[in-house]
Amino acid sequence: MKLVGLVGWRGMVGSVLMQRMQEEGDFDHIEPVFFSTSNTGGKAPSMAKNETTLKDATNIDELKRCEIIISCQGGDYTSEVFPKLRAAGWNGYWIDAASTLRMDKDAVIVLDPVNLNVIKDAMVKGTKNFIGGNCTVSCMLMGLGGLFKQDLVEWMTSMTYQAASGGGAQHMRELLTQFGTINAAVKPLLDNPASAILEIDRQVLATQHGLSAEETKQFGVPLAGNLIPWIDKDLNNGQSKEEWKGGAETNKILGRGADFGSSAIPVDGLCVRIGAMRCHSQALTIKLKKDVPLDEVNDIIANDNQWVKFVPNTREASVRDLTPAAVTGSLTIPVGRVRKMSMGPEYISAFTVGDQLLWGAAEPLRRMLRIVLD
Ligand code: HSE
Repeated sequence: MKLVGLVGWRGMVGSVLMQRMQEEGDFDHIEPVFFSTSNTGGKAPSMAKNETTLKDATNIDELKRCEIIISCQGGDYTSEVFPKLRAAGWNGYWIDAASTLRMDKDAVIVLDPVNLNVIKDAMVKGTKNFIGGNCTVSCMLMGLGGLFKQDLVEWMTSMTYQAASGGGAQHMRELLTQFGTINAAVKPLLDNPASAILEIDRQVLATQHGLSAEETKQFGVPLAGNLIPWIDKDLNNGQSKEEWKGGAETNKILGRGADFGSSAIPVDGLCVRIGAMRCHSQALTIKLKKDVPLDEVNDIIANDNQWVKFVPNTREASVRDLTPAAVTGSLTIPVGRVRKMSMGPEYISAFTVGDQLLWGAAEPLRRMLRIVLD
């Protein structure tokens, strides 16, 4: 069995990956080697077979033993260790959740239900670096991939509603702490049915403005009862890095090139952080290349892959099935609110939701492992 190094398996994405690998029996097919940045020599988790102690995640000789390495350790680790490993002559498969290598020309962004052909072509050509995509992009393509595969999309905008988990575990904790502080501040008034709602509102606002530096350490401002219309770095051209990724990564995943050349499809929008826990949602406006009847559009979306769940565009189905709370913890990607827009028959709307820790992070990595093993 192939030696597969696992780095960053204890963090949030890594823990979801371990859970999914256990559920799918992936450990039956590999000899796992668990690495650690802080506990070398410690006991490996129960999935270990012969490699029962934790190895040093910065030890190039230990890493070189592995034919495949999966890292959820983050970008700083990739930047530090990956070049050294390749420089030392390691020719194994590097499968990574971090964005560091994503746009390298010798790396492929993995989302096999959408781009298995791109992955397979690259493997034939000797590509060894396979990187998980941006969570928002991966979840969008899992839902709308059918329209792209049929080359029906002229351009698309994506207006996002991104969960706290995209920032990390500490961000999720901060959101809940803020909710708690705000609730506690108005609890006596809430408990009194006769209290005035505008007084409650005034106290909520005062509490949001008065949150301590500790309570806003991750997001910088309140997220609870609020939203933040900027995610990731400022590219100093009016666009956030998260927004740039939408176009660049979508086209790279589809094998259309990431440099916005002639075959690239314009994908752009505004990325917004909201107070959901771990599901990213997106409102999409799609300009089709031609007027396709709505029932055909619906069928193309619904039949693209086994995880898409087409949600009829009714109030009842939308509020029941098309929310972060409905989707969290599941691989299902609901797509709904699909209708022709008033701008013309080529314009359609859609709304989709995806668990950003599953399809947005862990799932494409473990599926890439299985592709390498096959
Ligand atoms: N950049 C994403 C977010 C994380 O902040 O929501 C997943 O790629």
